[in-house]
Amino acid sequence: MDAFGTTSRRGLIQALGLLPALDVASVSAAVQGGPLIPAGELSLPPGLIHLNTASAGPTPNRVLARTIAAWRQLERDPVAQCYSDQPDTVFTAADDVRGKAAALLGCSANEILFTRGTTDGITTLAHSVKLNARDRILLSNLEHEGGEVGWLHREKMSGVVVDRIQLPFEEHDPQRIVDAYAAALTPKTKVISVSHVLAPTGLRMPVAEIARIARSRGVLCVVDGAQAVGQISFDVRSIGCDAYATSGHKWLMGPKGTGFVYIAKNAAGAFDPPQWQLGRAVGSNSAGLAPLTIVVGLGEALDATRALGIHRIEAYNRGLANTVYTEMTKMPQLRIVSPTPGACSTAMVAAMLPPAIDADRLRAALRTRHNVVIKRAERRWFNGIRLSPHVFNDEVQVARALAALRTELAG
Ligand SMILES: Cc1ncc(COP(=O)(O)O)c(C=O)c1O
Repeated sequence: MDAFGTTSRRGLIQALGLLPALDVASVSAAVQGGPLIPAGELSLPPGLIHLNTASAGPTPNRVLARTIAAWRQLERDPVAQCYSDQPDTVFTAADDVRGKAAALLGCSANEILFTRGTTDGITTLAHSVKLNARDRILLSNLEHEGGEVGWLHREKMSGVVVDRIQLPFEEHDPQRIVDAYAAALTPKTKVISVSHVLAPTGLRMPVAEIARIARSRGVLCVVDGAQAVGQISFDVRSIGCDAYATSGHKWLMGPKGTGFVYIAKNAAGAFDPPQWQLGRAVGSNSAGLAPLTIVVGLGEALDATRALGIHRIEAYNRGLANTVYTEMTKMPQLRIVSPTPGACSTAMVAAMLPPAIDADRLRAALRTRHNVVIKRAERRWFNGIRLSPHVFNDEVQVARALAALRTELAG
């Protein structure tokens, strides 16, 4: 059965109440055994349909429990638990999470630095990379603010220059995108900073090609992976970037305020993060006391992702997102800006709205009248919405959300 197939459609119809109860069995088949993480393993209130993991994913109870257990352990003997590298301390458990993050990215533990999220990660990289005044950084207009604020701050503080290429939201052609980056490089360009998956549209960017071109021109490539880690399968070595930053609280469903950065061993001469001056352990004296308990929780979230399998997660989410895409294309008020389901698509589906329909009001109506959580696109992008299903959603929830959307658009 493909994502557009008969049984999937039956799931939609059942959810809209148009199929007899008898057909529940085929609905179950449609959702392929149900969500990969059952609702009972989350703290979301019953009935809430959370379709905005791209902003923040709900943390499973087992991750919360591990975090709280670590916190209780820490408070019984704070100094020993925070600073001792004995095998059973919270410090050691947190430091072990570097290995878990490295395993997911396909690198080594010594290349991992914990952060509070992607913004913190990119900002750390922007302030750690060795640059001279008037060196140039290349971004696109489609970067999330979290992926650009560190560079803009570096520009303000130290006289480097940020250049931007302009990519239309509906530009999904990988070659044209790569060509645009290549054409914008100047002899003074020293860094390209680019999203792995674009926040406004969910487009999977040709980052390996961009990194290859950067390398061939002696330019560093930094990747903002906020929307990729835990959502799609890849490894950083095959991207070939020099550094990569991501969040723990989105697709990994980890504690809020967690994230990590990868700095390639080969790029160690180019980046000199303050946190690594006195060692790379999670709580080196240069990093200071880290939020050890939520890092331990992040480790549990990484374990959960590994146990589910990133390929399985990606396939399941794509199935849901394909349904979202197909049904949204049938809503005349929407202009989809995400790529058609295929090699460049992800589980994020975004659409523009006509000026007469205010995205904020639509988002609020979906939440208050239908218990559906979606994202209103950032105003600087467009008047529109974005839906991002994940492993705890199912076809029935997706169908209900789409029915709600249809109702609100018609109203
Ligand atoms: C592409 C991208 N970069 C950065 C961020 C900011 O992430 P964080 O909240 O972890 O700082 C987001 C959040 O949505 C994002 O989509």
